Amino acid sequence: MAREQWGTRAGFIMAAIGSAIGLGNIWRFPYVAYDNGGGAFFLAYLFAMLTAGIPLLLMEFSIGQKFRGSSPLSFARINKKTEWLGWWQVAISFVVATYYSVIIAWALSYMVFSFNQSWGSDTQGFFLGDYLEATEAGVLGGLNGNVLIPLIVVWAGVFVIMLAGVKKGIEWANRIFIPLLVVMFLAIVVRALTLEGAVNGLDVFFRPDWQALAQPGVWVAAYGHIFFSLSIGFAIMITYASYLPKKEDLNNSAFITAFSNGSFELLAGIGIFATLGFMAGNLGVPVAEVATSGIGLAFIAIPEIINTMPGFNGLFGVLFFGCLVLAGITSLISITETYIAGVQDKFKVSRTKSVIVGGGLSAIISLLYATRGGINVLDAVDNFINQFGIAFAGLVSVIIVAWILRKLDFLQGHMNEVSDFRIGSWWKFSLMFITPLVLGANIILAFINNIR
Ligand code: PHE
Repeated sequence: MAREQWGTRAGFIMAAIGSAIGLGNIWRFPYVAYDNGGGAFFLAYLFAMLTAGIPLLLMEFSIGQKFRGSSPLSFARINKKTEWLGWWQVAISFVVATYYSVIIAWALSYMVFSFNQSWGSDTQGFFLGDYLEATEAGVLGGLNGNVLIPLIVVWAGVFVIMLAGVKKGIEWANRIFIPLLVVMFLAIVVRALTLEGAVNGLDVFFRPDWQALAQPGVWVAAYGHIFFSLSIGFAIMITYASYLPKKEDLNNSAFITAFSNGSFELLAGIGIFATLGFMAGNLGVPVAEVATSGIGLAFIAIPEIINTMPGFNGLFGVLFFGCLVLAGITSLISITETYIAGVQDKFKVSRTKSVIVGGGLSAIISLLYATRGGINVLDAVDNFINQFGIAFAGLVSVIIVAWILRKLDFLQGHMNEVSDFRIGSWWKFSLMFITPLVLGANIILAFINNIR
């Protein structure tokens, strides 16, 4: 059967942007930037994007389009001996999908709770206790009914989209969800900026600490963030690019994807820090004391802020958690597609079967995190994946493609042939030297931090 294809180039770009814009943009970037030099961090970010993010993104685009397969199949076509690399990436995607879906499920619950702030005044106690620890003894040996239902809804949504196919499912969903996400988030930003104290938050977020650029840790943070943020090293972009027509532009698409993702990070930073500025003002403490990220930001701090917000505070919550759901779902679809396509290519089964078996398996495993104490498992897995999984897979794939198989000239020839504009020798230089160096440094640093 002929390989499925995107309907339009815009559809492909939208899907790539949908994968890149995820929970990380909203709850990770703002804090990482603030914690690593504020405004000065943007410079490190831009540098990391140009010397590692876009180069690796382009490498994956080029591999996918040229070799026309999911990651395992593409790597097998490059060289029989490297098929395992694709499976490794697929395995990481599989693991990420199992817990990413759970976070989206929480966000879905919180979207509903927003209507009447049913999290009450002790938002931390509610999230960690009432919500997460509630186990209904009867339900399959202690599954958490609070999480179970939204989780089923999330997976059902993913299944419907995946079963509809690349063009009618994934492309269609991204074409609706991403513009909707941007509009909804803009509404959040406007509301946040009109809150009292917003300016103080922005001041903390944007104030550049130029000295920070002299610290290696800041650069490690910038490079570490860009890989996760652009969804590279997971085989996602290889898979998505494998559905492109043979002669469709790559270079321009990579730049559009990276800059759109970067713009959304900035927008998120403004929205989040304006809101944190309001919270700090309320509590009469410096913004630094309330600045936070991740699960604590989304499910503890934001609900607390919503409690004290004047006006239609419920709407703010619905918009915020709705944005998490949209940003998350479009990323989850891309991770799921990665292993579904891998299975489909390898075992020559239909898309339907592969979705049911592959997607079904990750849906079942995701239930593990919906049990009592599941959040601790989630936290540990997420940490491991973030600190080692992605960086290792990225590092190994760059070393194999650039140094062992020496395929960069070939790939560059391909992308320059199909694209609107040509990519110069900075691309090869970045992938041969800069990317492996920073990925290696990231792994070593993560290792040192962990044994300390
Ligand atoms: N890029 C997504 C984000 O910023 C995360 C993600 C990673 C999505 C891997 C898919 C796969 O949150």
